[in-house]
Amino acid sequence: MTVVLEVEGLAKTFHMHHLGQQLHPFADVSFTLDRGEFLLLRGPNGVGKSTLLRTIYRSYLPEAGRVTFHSRHGAVDLARAADVDVTLLRRDEIGFVTQFLNARPRVAAEEIVAEPLRRIGRPADEALDEARRWLGEFGVKRDLWRAYPTTFSGGEQQKVNLARALILPQRLLLLDEPTASLDAGARAALVRRLADLKSHGVAMIGVFHHPGDVEHLIDRTIDLKPKELADVAV
Ligand SMILES: Nc1ncnc2c1ncn2[C@@H]1O[C@H](COP(=O)(O)OP(=O)(O)OP(=O)(O)O)[C@@H](O)[C@H]1O
Ligand SMILES: [Mg+2]
Repeated sequence: MTVVLEVEGLAKTFHMHHLGQQLHPFADVSFTLDRGEFLLLRGPNGVGKSTLLRTIYRSYLPEAGRVTFHSRHGAVDLARAADVDVTLLRRDEIGFVTQFLNARPRVAAEEIVAEPLRRIGRPADEALDEARRWLGEFGVKRDLWRAYPTTFSGGEQQKVNLARALILPQRLLLLDEPTASLDAGARAALVRRLADLKSHGVAMIGVFHHPGDVEHLIDRTIDLKPKELADVAV
C-alpha cells in the first residue's frame, strides 16, 4: 500500500478572545490513509468534523501535530508548508468539496466546471465537453449549462459544485457533507463517481449526512467525541 496522508497528534484550538475562552474541537487525532482508502468522519453537530477537514486542507493552522501529505513530488507537512506550496497542492493534488458553491458573478456553470481542467492545460473545447458531460451526469438541466449559477437553486448549485470538484481525479479528496442538498439521482451519481475515484486510487476523508449512501466504500471510521468548553485565565 502507498501512504497518502499521515496525521499525527493533530490538535486545534480556537481562541475566543471576546469570551476569554478557548475551544478545543479536537486534541489528539492520528491516522494514516493509504491510496484508494475511504475514511468516514463521524460525530455530533459542533464536534469539530468540518474543522478537522479544514485543518488538513490548511484553511486553519493546527495548535499541534503534523499532517504529512505524500505528494507526487515528495512528503510535505501541510501544517508547516509555505502558502505557495499549499496553493499548488490544492490545484493539482488535494480537493475539497463542501455543500456550498462559491459562484462568481457572470461566469457560466459550464465554465466554472471546466476551469480545473483548463488550469492543468487541457484545451478549451475538450475541457468544456467534459464539463458538460459532468453537468449532465449530476442532473443539471441542459438549459442551465450556459447560465450563471448565482441564481440557481441550492441543489443546482451543489450539482455544479460537485461537477467542478470531482472532474479532476486528485490524490486526496476531502468531502464535507456533499450530499446535504441533493436529490436521489444526484446522490447516486455522486456515489458512482466516488467509487470510480476510489478504484483509481484517490484517498478520501468524508463527513456524510446519510452515511448509508457510501457504506460500501468505507474502509475506516473515526468518531470525534464532544469535549467541554475550557475556561482560560485572562
Ligand atoms: N473559525 C472559528 N472560530 C471559532 N470557533 C469555531 C470556528 N469554526 C468552528 N468553530 C467552532 O468549533 C466547533 C466545531 O465546529 P465544526 O464546524 O467543526 O463542527 P462539525 O462537527 O462540522 O458540526 P456540524 O455537524 O454541525 O457540521 C463548533 O463549536 C464551532 O462553533
Ligand atoms: Mg460540519
